[in-house]
Amino acid sequence: MNQATMEQVLKDAEVALGHLETEGALEAWYVKYFGRENGEIGKLLKTIPELPPQERGTVGKAINQGKQALEAAYEERRGRVASAAMQEQLRGERIDVTLPARGQLGGSIHPIMAAKQELIDLFAYYGFTVADGPEIEDDWHNFTALNTPTDHPARDAQDTFYLPDGRLLRTHMSSVQIRAMESGKPPLRLIMPGRVYRRDDVTKRHYPIFHQLEGLMVEEGTTFAHLKGLLTALCHELFGKNRRVRFRPSFFPFTEPSTEVDVECPFCGANGCGTCSYSGWIELGGAGMVHPNVLEAVSLDPEKVTGLAFGMGIDRVAMIRYGINDIRHLWENDDRFLQQF
Ligand code: PHE
Repeated sequence: MNQATMEQVLKDAEVALGHLETEGALEAWYVKYFGRENGEIGKLLKTIPELPPQERGTVGKAINQGKQALEAAYEERRGRVASAAMQEQLRGERIDVTLPARGQLGGSIHPIMAAKQELIDLFAYYGFTVADGPEIEDDWHNFTALNTPTDHPARDAQDTFYLPDGRLLRTHMSSVQIRAMESGKPPLRLIMPGRVYRRDDVTKRHYPIFHQLEGLMVEEGTTFAHLKGLLTALCHELFGKNRRVRFRPSFFPFTEPSTEVDVECPFCGANGCGTCSYSGWIELGGAGMVHPNVLEAVSLDPEKVTGLAFGMGIDRVAMIRYGINDIRHLWENDDRFLQQF
């Protein structure tokens, strides 16, 4: 080997390296020049002992310098190829951050909650404030104190869900009447909106969970006239001044006398339609004068104070207000329904 061959090998290696674009090609280059068995650089080094002794030092030094320079150039090239590959990959995965946003769904008030709030506002005008009690109730507050003892047939109409300890999911908001009269003294003017439960099949008009708004007014001198006046005014506020309101005799163990309150169907003007089951009237709820036994159960003297009470379905009011013909819509959490409110 002479000086020129050696320089040529190193030069070729450098030039070849400058053209490599892939990691695979780099690998092949490395094996070709630095491979343990047959690498070109190794071959150069092996020829040194064949040289005249006085040349060996300079040639050996020159090969080693060339070798070091090539190794440095190789590392540099490898870094460049890797970063180019990364750039290429990133170009493929590019995200266009200038795309317009999809927009956000704003929340809205559920129709039941809207109806409830409207009722609370209306009753506030007549001096009624809001009270509440537990959804898991005991037998005393839900039934017994409401003049509905264990064997009373009226319990059948209000079958519910019982807990192992005998407590139950309240079947009506009347239980809160008892709590209010136990904890406060007359005069009382309260409304009690809340969630109630009954063992019921799911249909267009029935659901095992629903909402009621109970009203209670206990004061000296409260009469049935107050009851009629209050509920008639309320129906006019809710459904229009010209709507007729009807009081039908009824029965509840905890009121005497008892009445059912109907309002002329606002959809058909009392001619009969699907919403009012072709009766012309829509049933809003039950009402009556608080039964003397109920007053006595909470240690009030029925000779001194009298009271009126009523219970109406909030879901029913929402359905009439918003023209919803199936109670199940209120529970299905379907965006297409809810977004209309
Ligand atoms: N609690 C009765 C029901 O759920 C309604 C009602 C309330 C009736 C108050 C009279 C007085 O059916």
